[in-house]
Amino acid sequence: MATTLAKAEEAVEHAARIEHVSKSFTTPAGQQLVLDDITVDVAPGEFVTLLGASGCGKSTLLNLVAGLDRPTAGTITTDGRPALMFQEHALFPWLTAGRNIELALRLRGVPKPERRGRTEELLELVRLKGAYGKRVHELSGGMRQRVALARALAQESNLLLMDEPFAALDAITRDLLHDELTRIWAETGVSVLFVTHNVREAVRLAQRVILLSSRPGRIAREWTVGIPQPRRIEDAPVAELSLEITDVLRGEIRRHGQH
Ligand SMILES: Nc1ncnc2c1ncn2[C@@H]1O[C@H](COP(=O)(O)OP(=O)(O)OP(=O)(O)O)[C@@H](O)[C@H]1O
Ligand SMILES: [Mg+2]
Repeated sequence: MATTLAKAEEAVEHAARIEHVSKSFTTPAGQQLVLDDITVDVAPGEFVTLLGASGCGKSTLLNLVAGLDRPTAGTITTDGRPALMFQEHALFPWLTAGRNIELALRLRGVPKPERRGRTEELLELVRLKGAYGKRVHELSGGMRQRVALARALAQESNLLLMDEPFAALDAITRDLLHDELTRIWAETGVSVLFVTHNVREAVRLAQRVILLSSRPGRIAREWTVGIPQPRRIEDAPVAELSLEITDVLRGEIRRHGQH
């Protein structure tokens, strides 16, 4: 009984706990070690970015946390089932913006009479008031990602996993969405594990930046970002820390002969 209690208490101390996780894939060239002994904790309400060069294993790690794949070694625990958001919005094109969000509410078991109102609230939260009846093809890239964010938030998960969700957007739209995400994170208290290869984006958003090395992906360094929010990507302290991280990242890339 005491053990069960201790376990339950421990579970809520972490939105995610990644302990000594390794991942290998079997390829025609043999076993390929992609992630090597990764240990990361995400505290409730914390915003953590995972930063690393292309191919270093960021998506692989996020997929493991999402439960889409299993680690070769180590363990991952999350506080409930995480919500996911990818670079591609993955909205159902035959449904309207509103219906896409409602579907997530339905899957969560929200009773039908409540769904419409909750959907309108979520659309307002992502600043898309009035977009309920819009078809996916009628929305801009930025608007689609807002709907995808609203749909992820509809799941009311304690942990939001984001894999380069703004990478395909132009700089101005991305900037706006950084502001929105920071605001929504502060308003909802959700924990975020955000993957990017963009150093400034990592520093703009996170409380903690974790740098992964490549081949295999290992934790190279970690920075706590004390710059107060809301930050701007052009802010001098953001630029300064980005420069420092970029230098370390370049060193890592040089060491592993990648570009
Ligand atoms: N299912 C798989 N089978 C075999 N190899 C895989 C598989 N998934 C990923 N890999 C390999 O693992 C490595 C890491 O891939 P991953 O997609 O996690 O990188 P990433 O850091 O997300 O890169 P990017 O920034 O380009 O998205 C790559 O070398 C990739 O080829
Ligand atoms: Mg990736």
